[in-house]
Amino acid sequence: MTPEMTAAWAALHEHHSGVADRRFETLFDVARADTFSASTEDFVLDYAKTNLDAEGVDLLLELAKVSNLTERRDAMFSGQPINETEGRAVLHTALRNIDGDPVLVDGQDVMPEVRTTLAAMEKFSNAVRDGSFQGQGGKITDVVNIGIGGSDLGPAMAVLALAPYHEGPTCHFVSNVDPEDIRQVLGKCDPATTLVIVASKTFTTIETMTNARTAKAWMSESVSDPAAQFAALSTSDEKTAAFGIAAERVFGFEDWVGGRYSMWGPIGLSVMIAIGVQGFRAFLNGGAQMDRHFQAAEGAQNVPLMLALVGIWHNQICGYTTRAVLPYDNNLSRLPAYLQQLEMESNGKGVSMDGEDLTINSGPVVWGEPGTNGQHAFYQLIHQGTRVIPCEFLVAATGHSEELHHQHQLLVANCLAQSEALMKGRDLEEARGKVADKFEGAELERQAKHRVFPGNRPSVTLAYPKLTPFKLGQIIALYEHRVFVEGVILGINSYDQWGVELGKELATALQPIVEGADASGKDGSTAALVGYLRRQGL
Ligand code: F6P
Repeated sequence: MTPEMTAAWAALHEHHSGVADRRFETLFDVARADTFSASTEDFVLDYAKTNLDAEGVDLLLELAKVSNLTERRDAMFSGQPINETEGRAVLHTALRNIDGDPVLVDGQDVMPEVRTTLAAMEKFSNAVRDGSFQGQGGKITDVVNIGIGGSDLGPAMAVLALAPYHEGPTCHFVSNVDPEDIRQVLGKCDPATTLVIVASKTFTTIETMTNARTAKAWMSESVSDPAAQFAALSTSDEKTAAFGIAAERVFGFEDWVGGRYSMWGPIGLSVMIAIGVQGFRAFLNGGAQMDRHFQAAEGAQNVPLMLALVGIWHNQICGYTTRAVLPYDNNLSRLPAYLQQLEMESNGKGVSMDGEDLTINSGPVVWGEPGTNGQHAFYQLIHQGTRVIPCEFLVAATGHSEELHHQHQLLVANCLAQSEALMKGRDLEEARGKVADKFEGAELERQAKHRVFPGNRPSVTLAYPKLTPFKLGQIIALYEHRVFVEGVILGINSYDQWGVELGKELATALQPIVEGADASGKDGSTAALVGYLRRQGL
């Protein structure tokens, strides 16, 4: 860490210790909502309901500046190998730069190849949708995407998010190696009219390859040429060919696209088949619009920058280590799961880029569920539990059915009520007033205490007109850039994922043991669990 960064962190901690105990509701004046929000042409990020003041924002902006954020951002967009532990560029932004400038990697413009692949995906997607590509029993009715992690969460989230725009075949997703996942999905499909997409950057992931072989066996029971109804999305031509998938149905990408950032390219094929080529292009354009905003907007008007800085303020400065993502937009119900990978696989690191142990919190624990459902489940803890959990609300001005707009209005009222309740809380006096007609004396005090809400709990709200493909592209790119900014400020590599490797290695070593080999070399707990499961029929 440079002396400038050390000083910027220290200044923030000092500022925080001076303001930690105040109630941020008292900061509101006529200008606060405007000053403590950032917007693009068509959405707004409100962070007025936090304990940030002008000095706090300035100190956070200074931290970003001395962390060389601008230089790192430019290095990413220009194809420098900023993923230093894997020696790779980070260029998912090129996948949505369809109408933009050349992007050079090692002196080569990657855009012609990106456009060629997009055109091939579009041709195939149109053929699936209009019936010129057929299954052996006729027009494709179902698409099964087999993939896991970044090869599942992005497209599965987006297909659900854009359900009102579907016109194509029904898209299903299989990710878990638990046989129940594939059994239940294939049980809904006719093998003669199903397209199976095997989505795997490496084409080695054991869960995906196992499910792909199961799907092939299922299809071969009903059609003479099962491989003819398979497509592959991968960086490995050899491995897709070895699996038997013809090159014309292999959609490739380069290793400068990280798995959890890959839905903008071939990994998004199921999304394109579901919503059509125009819809997918709108999604890409939304992402590209956010890229331009991230590169051009100054300081506190930069939405991804401010979302990241509010995150740093809450996690690394205030010490609130989890973050709830609460979409009041039911079609975004898989957004929290998607963000768990995006944020936690990217910024869940304990070592800085230069190999030193991190001395500050790594990225936050991210979790959530759509509102209003979460209100009837875990909001109790958010409002009255002993930990402070910063909440991130997402809400649209309109839904997708005009005739049910009154229900949408109820949804919005609930969203706004939650952030207001978190901020204001309810003090003991007000709580007493709520029960004074039922209790008196010591019992009144006791009952009132349970009805107190501490309040002063921070939240941010991302509001937008309507969840369209373009808007979803903006939102996903916004979160990607937020992760980037947080990673730069923490000084970590957001683009590797070494932390998933140990468990994979041990699972490979355990497979012969669960199949019957001697478990005595294992630790006592593992050997005992193997023994118990064997006795129960493993
Ligand atoms: O194990 C983690 C991971 O490597 C993720 O980063 C990735 O998104 C996922 O597995 C799937 O990888 P692949 O697309 O290569 O099958």
